[in-house]
Amino acid sequence: MRRSRIIGCGSYLPERVLTNTELATSVDTSDEWIKERTGIESRRIAADGEMTSDLALKAAQGALTDAGLDAQSIDMIILATSTPDETFPATATVVQSRLGMTGGMAFDIQAVCSGFVYAMSVADNFIKAGQVKTALVIGAETFSRILDWTDRSTCILFGDGAGAVVLSGEDTEDENSPGILSCHLHSDGQYHDLLYVDGGVSSTGSIGYLKMSGRDVFKHAVEKMAAAMREALDAQGMSAKDVDWFVPHQANRRIINSTARKLGISSENVIITIDRHANTSAASIPLALAEGRADQRIKGGDIVLLEALGGGFTWGSCILRW
Ligand code: ACO
Repeated sequence: MRRSRIIGCGSYLPERVLTNTELATSVDTSDEWIKERTGIESRRIAADGEMTSDLALKAAQGALTDAGLDAQSIDMIILATSTPDETFPATATVVQSRLGMTGGMAFDIQAVCSGFVYAMSVADNFIKAGQVKTALVIGAETFSRILDWTDRSTCILFGDGAGAVVLSGEDTEDENSPGILSCHLHSDGQYHDLLYVDGGVSSTGSIGYLKMSGRDVFKHAVEKMAAAMREALDAQGMSAKDVDWFVPHQANRRIINSTARKLGISSENVIITIDRHANTSAASIPLALAEGRADQRIKGGDIVLLEALGGGFTWGSCILRW
């Protein structure tokens, strides 16, 4: 049996902190409203000229240092993003080059907020198939570039950032050895109109702005993420009490609370970053993992459950033993 084990975590947040109070000076909202409805207090915003690849590179370097590996030992980079530097080539190849890697392969995955869970699943399958030994999986976003900063219903929700993990394939006969236990991916394109960006290369030829039907997304998010979490637990013959750390996509504190409640997971077992990061889309889970690892909440042997839902809709879960 081969398991894909996380051997390093890294993260990076742009320096600029944008608080709710500051945001309320330019759009009709308030710190109280945002905190009460979303749990968000502030978010980070990339500087002018600071690109998704810049954030991704720093997170990747942190993960490599944590893993004690140099870039040449990496066989594959998968970068989950909806906000690439350019239409092509893949931002992953920019990171590959800036890491000094000339071998292996690098590509992007586009599954919006579920991007990191999708990328983990793809990397896990490459590792299990024996095609690669070591993978760098990154989630990096500059959502500030696709927000309509005059639309208070969306611009308050998002932030910029990046997180990364290094996965290593390890052969084992022990069922209790660390690594990804299973991933469960879903999508249903009929929900396109509830969450999308109204621009693109082959439609408008422009970048566009994020459009969202917040209430509908909220309802689907709780239902679908709870179902994907149950699917992961059932696949492993586990129950919610076996979960040491629930590391959800950070979209809204109320969505996280409702999903945890539906599963019977205590709030003490949930890693929360939304208060300081807001929704960083594909970066939110690896940012939260890096935080939980750095402050030593997540320990060897812990069962960690990841879940996310994003535009498409796409959604899924991933359960692992640390
Ligand atoms: N400040 C003050 N008032 C506001 C704001 C704001 N920033 N935004 C909306 N309002 C007002 C509305 O205009 C409305 O006023 P009205 O009653 O006079 O019409 C009122 O507040 C209530 O609006 P709702 O949209 O019903 O508020 P709700 O409680 O649903 O909260 C929110 C809105 C926070 C967007 C919530 O629906 C939500 O979090 N939805 C999920 C969003 C999400 O998870 N997105 C993930 C995206 S993932 C990805 O793939 C990118």
